[in-house]
Amino acid sequence: MSDLKYKTFSFLVGIFLCVALISCGDSERSSDKKITLTMVTSGDNPPFEFHDTSRGKDGLVGADIDIAHALANELGITLDIKDIDFNSIVPALQTHRADFSMALMTPSEERKKNIAFSDIYYTSRIAVVTLQAKTLESENSLEGKKIGVQLGSTNEQAAKQLANKIKSLQIILLNKLGELIQEVRVGRIDGLLVEEVPAKAYTEANKDLDYRILQEYQSSFAIAFPKDSPWIEKFNVALKKLKARGKLEEITRKWLK
Ligand code: ARG
Repeated sequence: MSDLKYKTFSFLVGIFLCVALISCGDSERSSDKKITLTMVTSGDNPPFEFHDTSRGKDGLVGADIDIAHALANELGITLDIKDIDFNSIVPALQTHRADFSMALMTPSEERKKNIAFSDIYYTSRIAVVTLQAKTLESENSLEGKKIGVQLGSTNEQAAKQLANKIKSLQIILLNKLGELIQEVRVGRIDGLLVEEVPAKAYTEANKDLDYRILQEYQSSFAIAFPKDSPWIEKFNVALKKLKARGKLEEITRKWLK
């Protein structure tokens, strides 16, 4: 081979190798090897996260679950969703056993010391669920009553604030909203302090129950992350896109109708 031919030949081989390498990289990327993030939630909070047993099989469903999948789709990632006690969510994030949480979680100042939050994606008022026969006339009718709240929830704070104003109001803490609903139904507690959205869902599913809104209280909800998470801004951008496209509203409307 003459020198020129040899140079041309090695040049072409070089180009071929480069193209082969690049397309290899591409096929690597376009294959199914997406990043998987672990999401934790507390599946006791209809219609945002709950177990649907209506079709014979038990699946975790709800508005938060749909929003999480829409965000994952936007970000090109896959999700591994785990159902844990609400009270275990913050520790799971702090120890990086989870990458994020969607559980209708309120970004309180207290929590912000230990975990980080996305922008707000939904807000709701707070209500008291009671037996229909014992519906609250006003906040003052809570005097001397036993009121339940979910352990570790911000509603625990709201209940404590109420207890400062209302004489001999007792607060009962339990892990699961479903257990608290049962306590109301059997009359062991007089009411459950919870966001309006699950209050409405539980009341619709149990005709013996009713609920009243507490005018002064409102909560907003955000996605929770470990403090140093690299995902917060990416999720915020994806949230904005879903909002702009009307997808967020479409999902909440579907579950809140
Ligand atoms: N918003 C309240 C909080 O952040 C209650 C959330 C309850 N969520 C649930 N999946 N049980 O504390």
